[in-house]
Amino acid sequence: YRSLRIALLGAGSVGAQVARILLEHGDELAARVGAPLELVGIGVRDVDAKRDVELPRELLTTDLATLVAGADVVVELLGGIEPARTLLLDALAAGADVVTANKALVAAHGPELFQAAETVGAQVAYEAAVGGAIPIIRPLEQSLAGDRVLRVMGIVNGTTNFILDRMHTEGSTLEDALATATALGYAEADPTADIEGYDAASKATILASLAFHTEVPAACVHREGITGVTDAMVQQAERTGRVLKLVAICERLEGDAGDRVSARVHPVSLPSTHPLAAVHEAKNAIFVTAEAAGDLMFYGAGAGGPETASAVLGDLVSIARRHVLGGPGGPASTHADLAIAPFDEVLARH
Ligand code: HSE
Repeated sequence: YRSLRIALLGAGSVGAQVARILLEHGDELAARVGAPLELVGIGVRDVDAKRDVELPRELLTTDLATLVAGADVVVELLGGIEPARTLLLDALAAGADVVTANKALVAAHGPELFQAAETVGAQVAYEAAVGGAIPIIRPLEQSLAGDRVLRVMGIVNGTTNFILDRMHTEGSTLEDALATATALGYAEADPTADIEGYDAASKATILASLAFHTEVPAACVHREGITGVTDAMVQQAERTGRVLKLVAICERLEGDAGDRVSARVHPVSLPSTHPLAAVHEAKNAIFVTAEAAGDLMFYGAGAGGPETASAVLGDLVSIARRHVLGGPGGPASTHADLAIAPFDEVLARH
C-alpha cells in the first residue's frame, strides 16, 4: 500500500507528543496499519516557538491551508474554533479524514463537521476530545449503540480536578494550583475555559449528544465553574468528611409526554467515601448507566500531552486501517511479531 499522508495541525503539549510518537514508533504503527503513516508536515503559528519536544524543523510550516490540501488525514490539535473549523471543513470537502481533540469545536460545530464528512464519505474521529486517554467516545457511539443510556456522570476536566485536589490535600490556593496544572500541560491555552467550566460543558455537550442520540446545543448545558469555590468552603467540606468536585451530569428524564435530556456542570460536595472522591490529580472518571448494561465505569488520565496523544493515535490508526482495508479492523497478519514468554520464566521474574 502507498503511505498515508498525515498533516498535523498544532504542536502544543498534545501535538508535539503525537509528532514524537509518529516519528519514534513509525515502523511499529506501519506494521499495525499495513501501510506507512507519513507525517508530511506540522502546522504551527510560530516555527521558532519553544516546545516540549524537539521537532524536525523541515516539517514545521505556518502555511496550514497548503498543508491540509495535500493530506489523506488531518489531525487537528490547534484548539479553539477558528482557524480549526475552516481548515477541517476544507479538508473534509477535499475528501480527507479528520482526527481532532478539539472539544470546543466538536461541541459547537460537531453537526456541521459530521455532515460535511458524510457528504464525501469521510470520517471525523474525536476520541481525544473527552476524557484524555480514556476510551469513552467509542463506547458510547459503538459499544452501547444498541442499549438505552440513562445517565452519564463524572469528572471530565483534569485541570479543575487537579486544583480542587490540591486545595483539599495541600491547602493550595486556586491560583497556585492552576499555575502547576498549566506547567504540567493540563490546562487550556486560556485556562478560563477550565476554571469557569466551559471545557467541562463542551464535554457534557458531546457526551449527552452521543449518549442520547440527539443534538444537545452547548447553550442548553447549565454551567458553573470553580471560581466561586473558596478556601473556607474547602475547609468546611473537610470538616464534614466531604470533598468538592466539579461534576458533569447528563441524564435522560423520563416523562409521560416523552423523555427529555438534561446536561449540567457544577461543583458538588461529595462524601469522601463516594467513588468520585478518590479521583485525584488530573484524572477523570465517567460513570455510564444504561438500561440493559447497568453501571459502567471509565477511569484514567483526563489531560496531559502523552496521555491525550494516545487517544489521538488510536483514532489515527483506526482511520488508517480503514484506508488500507476499506473497512474497520486491522490485518492480523501484519501485526509486529512478539514472541510468547513461557509461564515458568514469567513466574521466575516475580
Ligand atoms: N484542559 C483540559 C482538562 C484538557 O484539564 O481536562 C483535556 O481536555
